[in-house]
Amino acid sequence: MRGSVSLLLLLSGLPVSWATLGGLLEKLKPLEQTSLRCPDYSSYSYQRHPPFSTGRFELSYQRPDPACRKFNLTEVEETIVSMKETIKDPDLFRLFENCFPNTLDTAIAWKGSAQKGARGESQEDLTFITTGDINAMWLRDSANQLQSYKSLLKANTSSSSLASLFRGAINLQSRYILASPHCNAFHAPSEANLSANTPFSSSEDYVVPTPEASTVFECKYELDSLAAFLQLSYEYYAGTGDAVFFARHGTWAQAVENILNATTELLAGTYKPDGTVAISPYQFQRFTPTATETLANAGAGSPVAANTGLVRSAFRPSDDACTYQLFIPANMMFSRYLSLCADIMDTLPNNPNLTSTSHRMRALATNIRAGIEKHGRVNHRLHGRIYAYEVDGYGSHNTMDDANIPSLLSAPLSGYVARDDPIYQNTRRFVLSRDNPYFMTGPVINATGGPHVGPGMAWPMALIVRILTSDDDDEIVGSLRQLVASTDGLGLMHESVSTQSESNWTRQWFSWANGLFGQMVLDLRERKPHLLGLSYQ
Ligand SMILES: *[C@@H]1O[C@H](CO)[C@@H](O)[C@H](O)[C@H]1NC(C)=O
Ligand SMILES: *[C@@H]1O[C@H](CO)[C@@H](O)[C@H](O)[C@H]1NC(C)=O
Ligand SMILES: *[C@@H]1O[C@H](CO)[C@@H](O)[C@H](O)[C@H]1NC(C)=O
Ligand SMILES: *[C@@H]1O[C@H](CO)[C@@H](O)[C@H](O)[C@H]1NC(C)=O
Ligand SMILES: *[C@@H]1O[C@H](CO)[C@@H](O)[C@H](O)[C@H]1NC(C)=O
Ligand SMILES: *[C@@H]1O[C@H](CO)[C@@H](O)[C@H](O)[C@H]1NC(C)=O
Ligand SMILES: *[C@@H]1O[C@H](CO)[C@@H](O)[C@H](O)[C@H]1NC(C)=O
Repeated sequence: MRGSVSLLLLLSGLPVSWATLGGLLEKLKPLEQTSLRCPDYSSYSYQRHPPFSTGRFELSYQRPDPACRKFNLTEVEETIVSMKETIKDPDLFRLFENCFPNTLDTAIAWKGSAQKGARGESQEDLTFITTGDINAMWLRDSANQLQSYKSLLKANTSSSSLASLFRGAINLQSRYILASPHCNAFHAPSEANLSANTPFSSSEDYVVPTPEASTVFECKYELDSLAAFLQLSYEYYAGTGDAVFFARHGTWAQAVENILNATTELLAGTYKPDGTVAISPYQFQRFTPTATETLANAGAGSPVAANTGLVRSAFRPSDDACTYQLFIPANMMFSRYLSLCADIMDTLPNNPNLTSTSHRMRALATNIRAGIEKHGRVNHRLHGRIYAYEVDGYGSHNTMDDANIPSLLSAPLSGYVARDDPIYQNTRRFVLSRDNPYFMTGPVINATGGPHVGPGMAWPMALIVRILTSDDDDEIVGSLRQLVASTDGLGLMHESVSTQSESNWTRQWFSWANGLFGQMVLDLRERKPHLLGLSYQ
């Protein structure tokens, strides 16, 4: 990767500025048309581009040419300029400069407005955000991709504003959830007129209930995807105070109702009181050699006890199957954002059904919390009382953590638990020790990974969460040092990095992790600005 020679690299043999380079590319345009003008970012992010940062890691400049950026926001450019004053280490600054704008630069695949459709939206913003290297919108990724800009959010009615990007994503997610609430990833809306994607095919994945084929890219039911919609909604509301938006067409309230209906069904246990088997409201089977890509028991998953108060999740935020379906981190996140979004529901024009909806939201949130505290805590022989990653309500539990958010490590980020809570602190010590079966160590990077990429591969995302949940300067500096030193010269966050070799990594273009890195640096500027003045060489 590091040694591969791109055309841009060849051109850069000359001491040319970016403007000159743009000019050169302009002249070359007739040769290679738009592919050269705006190279495919999957290959672009796989290669190094000048000017390199002046620290010892000589990190690539990875922002696309301005003309190729997908969305421009003055406030993001201003943040980058002001951060240059704050961050003294040239390699750390380069990482921030590349990562923070990455979602805007590369992943806003389409921004427009809705046609008046069956569900009544018209002239509403729509934002289609890809994960980066996959041409589909994940509920979880897109909520997190926008979350990285939440500290810049202000009320703004302009369709070229950050607020409008959030509105567009909330509207599109509402549409997706109304179509297929059990699915995790979706195609571009028809309004985008992007080249057609292959519709969801039941011959590849057997899924109950049957997904809406033209809308759905993949249909793994993950509780945190629904929580992500609520998170995105709440962040928009908290950042702008714009309650009117949620009332405008009724689709948001309907989507919330659909979430309540789907998750209430998924409170059920595997057996009915009379001992007969309750048909699982969601089933999934894929024909695959990978155990974590399909569900046991003919697509229903392992049995779960009744009356735990916990909502089942078939898959984790890594898109891997749950071992036990009472997945604690997603229940924490869901409980938290359900109760926060009940406040939005309360602001909608007075309607007896909505009032009862906000009651349902608060009641479900309260019951889930009680279920977590009753069934989700276990005793670890070395670390004491900790939260389990997954339980089944019968007493079986899985003590591990995975890098993907929501994780146990990330629990305070939603506000579910305080950072200094003793059970969280025990859990955190466990997660960051070799007692966690997915904590990876080695000379390159020490962090949690997961079964998605497998043992030996640590995830930078988990190191970022470690920083976001730490108050300890040494821990933060040690983690930042690892992040700066493990990008293989490419200057972007990878999905995973081998603990043994910096050049063994996965995914060159992972917009969520890039955004999260930027968000973490902004958080440090608030909490620990002195750490941004240090050297990470
Ligand atoms: C972003 O700004 C550049 C000029 O700096 C422009 O060429 C480009 O078209 C803009 N992108 C969008 C999506 O408007
Ligand atoms: C609203 O957003 C647009 C586009 O980003 C920006 O030009 C304008 O200044 C913003 N308005 C306010 C009041 O911040
Ligand atoms: C959609 O794209 C097709 C093919 O590029 C084009 O013929 C058609 O006019 C477009 N429709 C709209 C509504 O833009
Ligand atoms: C939710 O369930 C109720 C009761 O079964 C039903 O009346 C309502 O239409 C459902 N809501 C949605 C959005 O499907
Ligand atoms: C409340 O919901 C019921 C059934 O879903 C519907 O018939 C009724 O019109 C709704 N009431 C209001 C005020 O929207
Ligand atoms: C990871 O932790 C081990 C101790 O367990 C230490 O020797 C090693 O230097 C650490 N690696 C990094 C990259 O900090
Ligand atoms: C990368 O590391 C993983 C985990 O140790 C290993 O399985 C894989 O073979 C390595 N890949 C390369 C290309 O070295």
